[in-house]
Amino acid sequence: MEPIHTMEQYREVYRASIEDPEKFWSEIAEEFRWKRKWDKVLEWDFHLAEFSWFKNARLNITENCLDRHLPEKKDDIAFFWEPNDPQEPGRVITYEMLYRDVCKLANGLKSLGVKKGDRVCIYMPMVPEAVVAVLACARIGAVHSVVFGGFSATALADRINDSACKVVLTSDGAFRGKKIIPIKDIVDEALKNAKSVERVVCLKRTNNPVHIKKGRDLDWLSLVAGQDTDCPAEEMDSEDPLFILYTSGSTGKPKGVVHTCGGYMVYTKYSFSLVFQYQQKMLFWCTADIGWITGHSYIVYGPLLAGAGSVIFEGIPSYPDSGRFWEVVDKYQVNIFYTAPTAIRSLQAAGLDFVQKYKLDSLKVLGSVGEPINEEAWQWYHTNIGKGRCPIVDTWWQTETGGIMISPIAGVTPEKPGFAMLPLPGVRVALLNERGEEVMGNPASGNLCITFPWPSIIRTTYGDHERCRQTYFASYNGKYFTGDGCKRDEEGYYRITGRVDDVINVSGHRIGTAEIESAINMHPDVVESAVVGFPHPLKGQGIYAFVICTRAPSDEAVFTREIIEEVGRQIGPIAKPDKVQKVKGLPKTRSGKIMRRILRKIAEGESGNFGDVSTLLDPGVVQEIVEGSK
Ligand code: WT7
Repeated sequence: MEPIHTMEQYREVYRASIEDPEKFWSEIAEEFRWKRKWDKVLEWDFHLAEFSWFKNARLNITENCLDRHLPEKKDDIAFFWEPNDPQEPGRVITYEMLYRDVCKLANGLKSLGVKKGDRVCIYMPMVPEAVVAVLACARIGAVHSVVFGGFSATALADRINDSACKVVLTSDGAFRGKKIIPIKDIVDEALKNAKSVERVVCLKRTNNPVHIKKGRDLDWLSLVAGQDTDCPAEEMDSEDPLFILYTSGSTGKPKGVVHTCGGYMVYTKYSFSLVFQYQQKMLFWCTADIGWITGHSYIVYGPLLAGAGSVIFEGIPSYPDSGRFWEVVDKYQVNIFYTAPTAIRSLQAAGLDFVQKYKLDSLKVLGSVGEPINEEAWQWYHTNIGKGRCPIVDTWWQTETGGIMISPIAGVTPEKPGFAMLPLPGVRVALLNERGEEVMGNPASGNLCITFPWPSIIRTTYGDHERCRQTYFASYNGKYFTGDGCKRDEEGYYRITGRVDDVINVSGHRIGTAEIESAINMHPDVVESAVVGFPHPLKGQGIYAFVICTRAPSDEAVFTREIIEEVGRQIGPIAKPDKVQKVKGLPKTRSGKIMRRILRKIAEGESGNFGDVSTLLDPGVVQEIVEGSK
């Protein structure tokens, strides 16, 4: 792999990667451990949404995460685990310990009858066992489907059912600041409506009482006790599925994004090492939850493939106080720190007192991910956390892309606050206008597309390939459409401006408006609803719900609370609306389509200037909504 430590090198490697992508990626793939090499690097068809990377190659990703580093790195740190409560002792996990724990659980899962191709749901707090669970599945070729611990029983059941998971790995509870979330109870509730699940493995973490269903539930420790510390790694085809991760879109239920073994392995390792300029012995900390793609690619796979050490953090940034992140950085001497703009903004709001107690002198690189970072937050991060000496990498990517796509390379690419800057080698981007034509030259703006496959491109949406094709590959012929708007400045640097579809980005989490609307519509007094995003000082975007009821509620405050709770029940706390406005009607076109553009303006606080409203069935409704929003 050619080093990239200067812009000239970047430009040269980028050029080479575009000129001969197969040569480029095969050279990078050479450094991994394969059980059989590929016959062809890439076969693809954008129209059918079919991609085959490293065709007919055989491998197991965990051999590359673990075995490959042994015995040389057996005593190197794979993870420092920092618990929710700073008083509780943490844990240090070496590569050898991780290898053994993964093998023991893998053998345990096998003893339960889990086989290659079976789906296993992981619904867990941020404890080392969550990472072990992911790798144990990969070890035996089972497909993991991690569901974020903040999703409700209904949302969990939907995800378990969609992919017919056979086993659920969970824990009694999850610590979250001062609270204990009884996650085993949530699993029990979900399983009333999820019949595919045969066994539930429950880790003791919080020691709150749980209900044990005989014949179904078993204790994690008893399962792994006495298991062999070696487990042969299942031989996987490069295109066998590695995992499913559910993500929201603009329509319907969440989609199960499928990633496969070979390409995902090559891309996550490559992007991790390149973007953060990771050097051996550096300590990395990604604050994401393992329930999101960021946790998959940059807590588990990328760092382990690179033989890196990282921090796993169980808690939240504000507990016991808003200095927690910085305390942990100093405690472990973190070198590379990767977090989300929403966290930066909330810590910025908490004030500098929480920062100034700490040295932060181990930091070398800072990262941002999940949503556009506003200039103010960027400057605060740069000045107060990076002390003006750490490059910030604003990394743009998606669940579907598997790894970072557009980003500065730390210390190499020039920096511009709010800009993701340039595509990584192998990534070809285009901006498309409404007519589907590529906008050439600089400056430019349009919808962001990727015009050539990269190794960790989404392979399918579980159980419904046509949905995958329609969603990502049908809008712009022969291109992958990201759903994001984007600008390219005079110098050719890219700035992501946000979603152009009906997806809201709340605190870096993607939530479809359609999903929130169907949750709201579950309330018996609701006729119809429309949800839009609006600018929110901490969350990036907040959720604004316009609701039509069957009858005037006797108590509006109670009604609002019920709506919010309904969304919490159907999806989870992250999707709860910030504002609920009762309305008599919604701005609809004659064909019945809701004009969200108008609702978005009202949610932003505008009271006029709605543009052309002549196509509305009843233009009067707009003024009524404006009045009600005040
Ligand atoms: C959407 C993907 C990528 C892992 C976390 C979110 C937005 C992500 C950035 C960034 C501007 C960003 C986009 C994208 N997004 N990173 N650096 N700058 N926007 O993964 O849930 O799949 O969401 O997050 O809108 O499409 P996700």
